[in-house]
Amino acid sequence: MGRKFFVGGNWKCNGTADEVKKIVSTLNEAEVPSEDVVEVVVSPPFVFLPLVKSLLRSDFGVAAQNCWVRKGGAFTGEISSEMLVNLGIPWVILGHSERRLLLGESNEFVADKVAYALSQGLKVIACVGETLEQREAGKTMDVVAAQTKAIADKISDWTNVVLAYEPVWAIGTGKVATPVQAQEVHSFLREWFHTNVSPDVAASVRIIYGGSVTAANCKELAAQPDVDGFLVGGASLKPEFVDIIKSAT
Ligand code: G3P
Repeated sequence: MGRKFFVGGNWKCNGTADEVKKIVSTLNEAEVPSEDVVEVVVSPPFVFLPLVKSLLRSDFGVAAQNCWVRKGGAFTGEISSEMLVNLGIPWVILGHSERRLLLGESNEFVADKVAYALSQGLKVIACVGETLEQREAGKTMDVVAAQTKAIADKISDWTNVVLAYEPVWAIGTGKVATPVQAQEVHSFLREWFHTNVSPDVAASVRIIYGGSVTAANCKELAAQPDVDGFLVGGASLKPEFVDIIKSAT
């Protein structure tokens, strides 16, 4: 397969400058597998991007947690792709379920954001995932396929995209998907790429799992053939994030 393991840390709306410095110092001292084995990207709130970029070890990347859908301008409160590029921030998380559900970001809007961010040279962690209601209604595969298709309809090059499957019912709940549940959706998505994009993209695109990943459950999840890494929330703010990085296979 040859897909490099990817571990993202989504710090969400958390932290003070002192707390951020402490997290970065823990990461800088961590002994982790080499860059050939695992790609690590941390995503602080916008206000700490320059600080984290200036302090973080050079073998780890930095991501913004969102960006605007087009070129900057009269869009009060927004942060443009161009600004992230200007700051030397290479990655951006887009389509997180907290933005889809709390801020009404549609599949189309997320897809437009992904396309524009890529066009500006950013690399994208694109998030998909179903709610508990959708899962219980047997709609999981329909939902993640529609979310992924919306993006596939807008982009042709997946080289700089990592797809994060984050079941909404597992985010922040402690109810992590079982390895079987995660593998089932990841293999469905990989098959979806094979059928709807190309065999090459299906083989190369990294599909990572997010939703209550911890040092205790990461190894079993990492052992699944179509789980190429993680997007970690709460645990990425703790020293155990280093153990999750070490689960890279
Ligand atoms: O983006 C990752 C996040 O949604 C997962 O959060 O706290 O369940 O690991 P958490």
